[in-house]
Amino acid sequence: MTEPVLNKEQAVFFNTCRQALNDETFKRVVFTGPGKGNDKVQVRFDLVLGETKKLVVLSTNRNQDKRSLDFDVDVLLKLMSSDDVVPFRAAVLSTETFDFHYAENRKGHARTYRAKPSMKGVENNHNRQKNYVLDPTRPYLRGLGVTSQKGVVIKKHYGKFRQIANFIEIIDRDIGEFVSSTDRPITMTDLGCGKGYLTFAAYDYIRERAKHQPQATGIDIKANVIDLCNSISSGVGFSGLRFINGRIQKDKPIEVDILIALHACDTATDDALAHGVRSHMKYFFCAPCCQAEIAVQLTEGASVFQSINNFPLMRRRQADVITDVCRALLLTALGYRVKFLEFTALEHTSKNVMLAGYLDESVDRRKAHTDYLQLKRECGFKRHSLENNLSDLL
Ligand SMILES: C[S@@+](CC[C@H](N)C(=O)[O-])C[C@H]1O[C@@H](n2cnc3c(N)ncnc32)[C@H](O)[C@@H]1O
Repeated sequence: MTEPVLNKEQAVFFNTCRQALNDETFKRVVFTGPGKGNDKVQVRFDLVLGETKKLVVLSTNRNQDKRSLDFDVDVLLKLMSSDDVVPFRAAVLSTETFDFHYAENRKGHARTYRAKPSMKGVENNHNRQKNYVLDPTRPYLRGLGVTSQKGVVIKKHYGKFRQIANFIEIIDRDIGEFVSSTDRPITMTDLGCGKGYLTFAAYDYIRERAKHQPQATGIDIKANVIDLCNSISSGVGFSGLRFINGRIQKDKPIEVDILIALHACDTATDDALAHGVRSHMKYFFCAPCCQAEIAVQLTEGASVFQSINNFPLMRRRQADVITDVCRALLLTALGYRVKFLEFTALEHTSKNVMLAGYLDESVDRRKAHTDYLQLKRECGFKRHSLENNLSDLL
């Protein structure tokens, strides 16, 4: 491991990390490298209290790997300042009593500053975390038929359980800090919630971590599943979670922090995203479902992909990619930082792509819109529901 040369503010930052590790107020440090969007590397060191000893878990967004490290201050500091992490452009140290930021501006000038503690009182207990990320003994899972009376996952629902567990891991990684540091009730909507597996799990997760009882709503056109969800919800005492029978209202916004739309059919995904944008959603998690809108159009006009279009299966696959990339570009054009990820193994569902993002003023909205228009022109389609739904904002 080579010794990197630190600038003055980086040295101040690592000194503060050392103090926090030494006086045992350390909770987490996140380093963010240069680059844009998905290319931006993040490396995190999280304190975890195991049953017999303290550990630090090292993880990055480059892969799903996590490494547990012994709590050795010198070794940890050496790793934090290694080539894997430096050069970083921003970093946040969270301690029990304050947050400490390192930030570089566009010209590379660095500064450090203190801020309010975002993780005050947050427990880093290993077992507790493991349990609430997805604890199979939670009563709502029994009500939904995923687990037995003894809290054991029923074999035929194992895929569903994995899907829910992965989903909760993703939201924990992406919004855990927001959830635990927000000083007001967090609002969440799940559009096309179906039987509400993820609505229940996300609500339960937020309720466990948030400072206030969340307010969550699941919406679906199927009356029978809504009735079932409401009876399970009141049975397990989730007073902030309700289910409403109805269509996704793309033009009727309500302020919402977190929007979920998983496998809402075809253009219902675009209605859900439009609703979210108009509702000023801060975070969204969306797994598109079957989609027909673009596939039909690819057969119509002249297209650079004509030879692919002649094979219906390949045309559909290509249309899926185009549809989702267009969604990502349109959402970026509307001020969201967007990423794609695979949220569960293909063997559990073939529709395992998730589009997730958050409001971020620094995205290049104009470029994303130009890229969208170019893609539309070159692919030869005329309509995309998300564009139609939000044309007045673009
Ligand atoms: C494939 S299911 C997914 C359910 C759930 N999100 C999940 O991941 O388990 C799609 C759901 O979306 C609902 N849906 C489709 N279009 C809708 C719309 N326009 N408004 C409300 N719900 C809709 C369907 O009734 C169905 O329950």
